[in-house]
Amino acid sequence: GGPRCSYSGGSRRRPHDAPRSEARRDGLLPAAAWRQARASSRVTLSETRLQEFMTAEIGYFATMSVRPVKLADIFQADTPESAGRLILRSLPMHFATRIKHIEALPKWRDIPEIVDVRATLTQSFRNLRLLENQGSDLTRLSECIEDIRQRHKSIVPLLGFAMGEMRAEGLVNEAFASEWLHTFLVARISTEMLTLHYTLLNSGDDGTSGSCRGIVDSRCDPRDICTQVVEKLSQDPRFSAVPMKVESYVCGRSEKGIEFSFLPRYLILLVEELVKNSAWATMRACDAAPQTKAPQPVTIFVGADDRQVMIEISDKGGGIPLDRQDRIWCFASASDRDVSHSAEDVAPPRATLSWSDPLSGLGIKPRLGMGLPLTRLYTQYLGGSLELMSIPGVGVDAFINFRRIDKQSIDTLG
Ligand SMILES: Nc1ncnc2c1ncn2[C@@H]1O[C@H](COP(=O)(O)OP(=O)(O)O)[C@@H](O)[C@H]1O
Ligand SMILES: [Mg+2]
Repeated sequence: GGPRCSYSGGSRRRPHDAPRSEARRDGLLPAAAWRQARASSRVTLSETRLQEFMTAEIGYFATMSVRPVKLADIFQADTPESAGRLILRSLPMHFATRIKHIEALPKWRDIPEIVDVRATLTQSFRNLRLLENQGSDLTRLSECIEDIRQRHKSIVPLLGFAMGEMRAEGLVNEAFASEWLHTFLVARISTEMLTLHYTLLNSGDDGTSGSCRGIVDSRCDPRDICTQVVEKLSQDPRFSAVPMKVESYVCGRSEKGIEFSFLPRYLILLVEELVKNSAWATMRACDAAPQTKAPQPVTIFVGADDRQVMIEISDKGGGIPLDRQDRIWCFASASDRDVSHSAEDVAPPRATLSWSDPLSGLGIKPRLGMGLPLTRLYTQYLGGSLELMSIPGVGVDAFINFRRIDKQSIDTLG
């Protein structure tokens, strides 16, 4: 059958008896039954009552123990129906938990961006809970998910911005802000991937090569990915002066070649974020000494053997500035007053903050300083690691390492 999720909310508060008996008879979700009853005007339901009901539901869902959506779960949900079931089962719970996470912030009601994010999540929770069971017809669910994906794009930049505000007002300190964002974003990665996976499975828009299933490509070619990033960024006027090249190597004894089972759409984002940082540092190094230096190349090395695929992004942009070195993995590093008022951070173009789609959307504020920590979170979720080596005055080497994902390793992921 189609997506269906077992109802377990509302036991603490039962706003009305009629819809519950309706629900039992039709096997519908109570919320959906309620909606149907309202439509047939047997029950007149005020918006206020519905809001109360949803608030109670959010409270209840947030008390459930939330199991993260593992990458293995996403791999295993390889039809639109099964991905849809996973979404209906897990997203309301995750959204409720995130709403409570927001409400734990001091004075959150005073920060408009936080209020916005909370409203976005509440709306999505409600839309999912009010979805009527359409059997095998996924149209409504697809519309609902598409709408969620669109509305949620602004969440990452809004939160990055809001944390800056909260720190400026002394409501939170850097450690708290970073930890709070970390918790929020770790949880968001999996649900964001799951909704994209569903969208691609359902639209059949997951690639023409035949090796793709949703977000997973069983023959993902990391060289291709890196070349695509270079082509894209070379056309960007901010970086077109920076020479960029890709070199790839396969270990001589490897049987598997360089292709691996992976998520090309995310690999592109990770590599792009790092190459943008490198290209930006390269340009900055040039600006600092225009008479002596032409832009040095950014080189991407791709190597593979039968166990792993590794990508190195190497630049000669002078290395990570001393005042940044301790805080590059901190989510709120660029958002405090001192940093955002320093000359270096006011000017840079806003689009150096990537993750524009599918992760964030609006480039509300230039350089939120969330690129590196977010890139590392995604890499870790994908079972890999990200390390940086900065050589003072010389440049940075960023290393991304992924194990090949196969049937045996899949259960240990995420
Ligand atoms: N390749 C690099 N070379 C020099 N500095 C870098 C490099 N990558 C990152 N940095 C420094 O680390 C900071 C944080 O990077 P990131 O998390 O991507 O945030 P953002 O790009 O939004 O500033 C950058 O602002 C920059 O100062
Ligand atoms: Mg960056």
